[in-house]
Amino acid sequence: MNSIWLSPSVMCIPAWQGAGQAVEEAQQAGAALMHADVMDGEFVPNIMLGTENIKNLRLVSRVPLDLHLMIQRPEDKLGWFGIQPGDYVSVHAESTRHLHRALAMVRDLGAHPSAAINPGTPIGAIEDVLEEVDMVLVMTVDPGFAGQRLVPGTLKKAARLRELLDRAGRQSTRIQVDGNVSFENAPKMRAAGADVFVCGTSGMFCPGGTVRENTEKMLAAISAAEREG
Ligand code: DX5
Ligand code: ZN
Repeated sequence: MNSIWLSPSVMCIPAWQGAGQAVEEAQQAGAALMHADVMDGEFVPNIMLGTENIKNLRLVSRVPLDLHLMIQRPEDKLGWFGIQPGDYVSVHAESTRHLHRALAMVRDLGAHPSAAINPGTPIGAIEDVLEEVDMVLVMTVDPGFAGQRLVPGTLKKAARLRELLDRAGRQSTRIQVDGNVSFENAPKMRAAGADVFVCGTSGMFCPGGTVRENTEKMLAAISAAEREG
């Protein structure tokens, strides 16, 4: 199994005036990536993190960005975000007629292409681009909002995908889970084969704990489950 990466969902930072501090706390707590949800109000019924937010986030992030593009026709807009080599860029299979082209464009920018699928989208929708991606984002909630509940069937979907990738010799292709990655769900997601955890209001930015406390709690929960096998 690949090593565990945490990717804090910056849309979940409770107070923007402390955003830079929260990003720093998340990085000190061990974030491998910085998850930025971009929403256009068309692909999902919400608007979130515009192009300037992404550029400002990059100024305070010492780790690569993990752009989650919940926008229509992403292939027409990749140039808007100042994508850098080393970033991860997730393109939703449901958001474009040209998924293969969009992923190739991400690769041409020197970034890591990632194909994303909603809970209702079968793995088959991305089966023919698995050799083009370094990661698959399996949405564990319907995209658009923080604070939602896990769609249980997505755990089995992640496990099927892990099996498919391993059978194809793609053990290094990562599986990201995004949505209600809670202290309770994260171990189940790890058991299903996930290795990149989007940490939002259910995890790193969960009220009642500091970012560091929440991170330690999350990692302890995952490793306890791994020990129990
Ligand atoms: C949902 C976003 C997630 C979300 C995760 O569309 O992609 O990143 O912010 O937050 P929680 O942990 O609240 O589900
Ligand atoms: Zn996301």
